[in-house]
Parts: sequence; C-alpha cells; structure tokens
Amino acid sequence: MGRGIMSVTTAPQWSAWPDASAAAAACAECAVSAVSRALAGKGDATVAFSGGSTPLKMFASLAEAHVDWTRVQVFFVDERCVPPDHPDSNYGSVRKHLLDPCRIPVRNVHRMQGELPPDQAARLYEGDVREVFGLSSGDLPYFDFIHLGMGADCHTASLFPGDVRVHDQEGIAAAVPAAGDRTARITLLPGVLLRARNIAVLVAGADKAEPLHRVFHAPVDMVQMPAQLVARSSRKTNWFLDEPAASKLK
Ligand code: 6PG
Repeated sequence: MGRGIMSVTTAPQWSAWPDASAAAAACAECAVSAVSRALAGKGDATVAFSGGSTPLKMFASLAEAHVDWTRVQVFFVDERCVPPDHPDSNYGSVRKHLLDPCRIPVRNVHRMQGELPPDQAARLYEGDVREVFGLSSGDLPYFDFIHLGMGADCHTASLFPGDVRVHDQEGIAAAVPAAGDRTARITLLPGVLLRARNIAVLVAGADKAEPLHRVFHAPVDMVQMPAQLVARSSRKTNWFLDEPAASKLK
C-alpha cells in the first residue's frame, strides 16, 4: 500500500489515499498502532468506534491485524436507537465485521443499548464507562483510540448541526432526539472525544469534499459544523481521506 500524501496544516493533519479501501487500511493501521502502544505501556487498551458505511472496510482490516483483543475494551462513539439486530445498528455492524471474526470476548464489548429509551440508554452507558475506567464523580475517560466519521452535513459522532452540545466538555454521553427521518441516537460528548490519546477521522467519497473544505477552512462555527470540534481544536487527530474526499483541499 502506498503512503498517503501527508499534509500538516495549522490545524487538521490529513492524508489522502488513492481510494476508500486504502484510506480505511491506513486508519486501521493507526488504530493498531495506538492499541499496541497502550498494551505495551499499560497492559490494556480502550477503543471506541463510530458507525456508518465508510468504516466497514476499516473493521475488515482490523480483523486481519494481530491484536490481543482479550486486553482491549471496545466501546461505541454513538448508536442509533434501534435493537442490536437492526440493520441500522452500529453495534451490529461492528459485531459482524470485527467482534465476531476476532472472537472478542463479550465482557470486553460495551454496547449502547439502543433498544432502551434513549435517556435510560445514555445513563446506563455512562455508568458502564465510569465502571470500566474507574472514574470518580466529575472525571472523564481517556480512550486510547477513538474513530470518528463525518457526514456530508459536517456532523461527527451523533453531534449534528445546530446541537449546542458540541460545546459540552463535562458530560460523558447523551441521548440525541430523533429529527425528521433520523432516529434518536446516543452519543459520546465532546469532552470525552477530545481527551482521547489518538483520534482518527475516516472520510471517503466525493460528497464529502465540499463539507470537508468548509470544516477545515471556513471560520470556526462548531455548532453548524460539529466536525470542526476535532478539525480545529485537537492536535491528536489524524484525518484519513480518499482522493475524492480530499479533492478540494489541495
Ligand atoms: C453514525 C456515525 C456517523 C458517521 C457519519 C459518516 O452512526 O452514522 O457514527 O457519525 O460517522 O454519518 O458516515 P459514513 O462514513 O457512512 O458516511
């Protein structure tokens, strides 16, 4: 696999890859490096994955990597409020493409219970995070690796345009009400996302080119462009793009 075209701008650090598969493989390599460093350093690792279609290739690459998943705690960045066997379930996607192929122990998988009422699911998930990370009241977790995507509307995680919780630096997780044809969601909140030791954003497709240019270069307006949260305020973020998505950045 060829190396991506690295570009370090004042804020976002991004690399462009020939196609979505190459970008996904590079993002998977980033995840494996972060997990390997954590395992070597402290003996365990914590990761959180987003949903969507772009990361499916990343999960497939991860499933082929040599990772001791028995020492990795797998969380989710966000989830649609549907049962785990629903085709829209992020957990369902990760289970099919990573958890099952790698036989990751059930005790290591921390699902957002999308089948429950959203607020209850968010509270239960927050409790699970607190327990696994051993958090005291008011503390936030430090994930070793967090994967994010970006929608064509510049959302990331389940922080959508207009949601002022993009400025929430205290909470762990929240329920996001349904809007239009979008189901209710559960999402990790910015304070958690930005604390991660490694953040990787995987974006592919020509439909993301214009929004990505705005996220990287337009004046900061995180409420309208939530993906600026990690593009303009975190130096620990690497963006893995395919050529079509990066086409307006050069
Ligand atoms: C979700 C994701 C969401 C996703 C973007 C991009 O549950 O939908 O968490 O934030 O990352 O919508 O999705 P694609 O990569 O499939 O375009």
